Amino acid sequence: MSDAYIRQLESLKQVLLASGLGEIVEPDESAIKRHKELYAIIIDRIQQGGGQISFADYMHAALYEPGLGYYVSGLRKFGEGGDFVTAPEISPLFAQCLGNQVQQVYRILEKQGTALTILEFGPGTGILAATLLEYLQQINCLPEKYYMLEVSPTLMQRQKQTLMESNPEWLHRVQWLQALPKSFSGIVIANEVLDAMPVEVFQFTANAPEQACIGIDSEDPDQLSWCTQALTGDLAKRVAMLGDQCGPSFVDGYRSEVNLWIDPWIKSIADIIDTGLVMLIDYGYPRREYYHAERTSGTLMCYFQHRAHDNALLLPGLQDITAYVDFTAVALAAVAADMTVAGFVPQAQFLLGCGLDRLLSKQMQQDPVAQAALSQQVKRLTMPGEMGERFKVLGLSKQIDEPLIGFSIADQTHKL
Ligand SMILES: C[S@@+](CC[C@H](N)C(=O)[O-])C[C@H]1O[C@@H](n2cnc3c(N)ncnc32)[C@H](O)[C@@H]1O
Repeated sequence: MSDAYIRQLESLKQVLLASGLGEIVEPDESAIKRHKELYAIIIDRIQQGGGQISFADYMHAALYEPGLGYYVSGLRKFGEGGDFVTAPEISPLFAQCLGNQVQQVYRILEKQGTALTILEFGPGTGILAATLLEYLQQINCLPEKYYMLEVSPTLMQRQKQTLMESNPEWLHRVQWLQALPKSFSGIVIANEVLDAMPVEVFQFTANAPEQACIGIDSEDPDQLSWCTQALTGDLAKRVAMLGDQCGPSFVDGYRSEVNLWIDPWIKSIADIIDTGLVMLIDYGYPRREYYHAERTSGTLMCYFQHRAHDNALLLPGLQDITAYVDFTAVALAAVAADMTVAGFVPQAQFLLGCGLDRLLSKQMQQDPVAQAALSQQVKRLTMPGEMGERFKVLGLSKQIDEPLIGFSIADQTHKL
């Protein structure tokens, strides 16, 4: 087992070097120990499962196995010393724009005499909550409660620390939940949460669909490998339905993903919101682009020390594994759960609709270095080659008729 780790690390270095992505810092002893423990669990599950497990089960273990998975271990993930940077980490302007959208819903609820609650899924380091609360206080729209739903005990500690450091006064409004509240009115925020949900993988061999699973390499019992099995159950139904809609794409060798968690997740949210807006921010496409004929190897992407590659079998527990979001699937799940699609726009248009330019002009800096830093943040959030186009915002509403400011520029709901 021990050299399984060394060989995976070597494979990762080769993958990165071949892509021109350079040297990495080797994981420390405790991270290697956790990875080895997780690896042994995955191998055991494959053996118990008759030689294979589904990719979703593998991805769930790699990211969320208690104490060992990437998101639940103490590993540093966010920021410069981690593996990736998210929008609220890049600039406070992101949370402030969201704050302007919250303000509009706050006023709608105020007219009905209802207090606004915010529920954030997967709050990361807590920076979005801290910046948003600070801004909402400035514009007199503080929520009655700010719920956080976090699966990682270590991230929960990190969030508490961030909020303590930014303003302990707000802590009494913040509540960490183990399960969804019974009901509430207000805003749901999930930034880069959908892409971190486990997906199933399917592929076409000789033009027939099958499920791509994870097994043990027949020539090297220390290594994981891809294998296949017949499609069954919900995955079979979903792939057949996709075949009807995107048929010409699905030819020999085509491989892609399906997130079967979306429908129950959206339904669980729709069931508890009385009046409000769900803001889902993530990288993804409408269905026809997602299952485009040219996207022959799907959208799985792994992050390790700010380098992206597509080998999800390397070093489970030590690298992030993600898949792009099929926003059409999310919108359909919402409509089936009696929610309304309030809008669908690229992140840049959403931020502009929420007043990014006004916020920016108020924050103009005299100091040229500070001004350059601010401009750099805006570029990263809005430029098409950065997050501006790749990231989309899908708004789902319940009992809100007023057009929402975030979707007032170039709404692309028709593309879903
Ligand atoms: C890429 S991080 C994004 C963190 C943060 N939202 C940000 O923007 O910095 C993804 C987070 O989503 C969380 N997550 C994934 N599925 C979840 C679910 N069903 N409920 C709550 N959190 C979830 C993960 O634990 C992880 O913390």
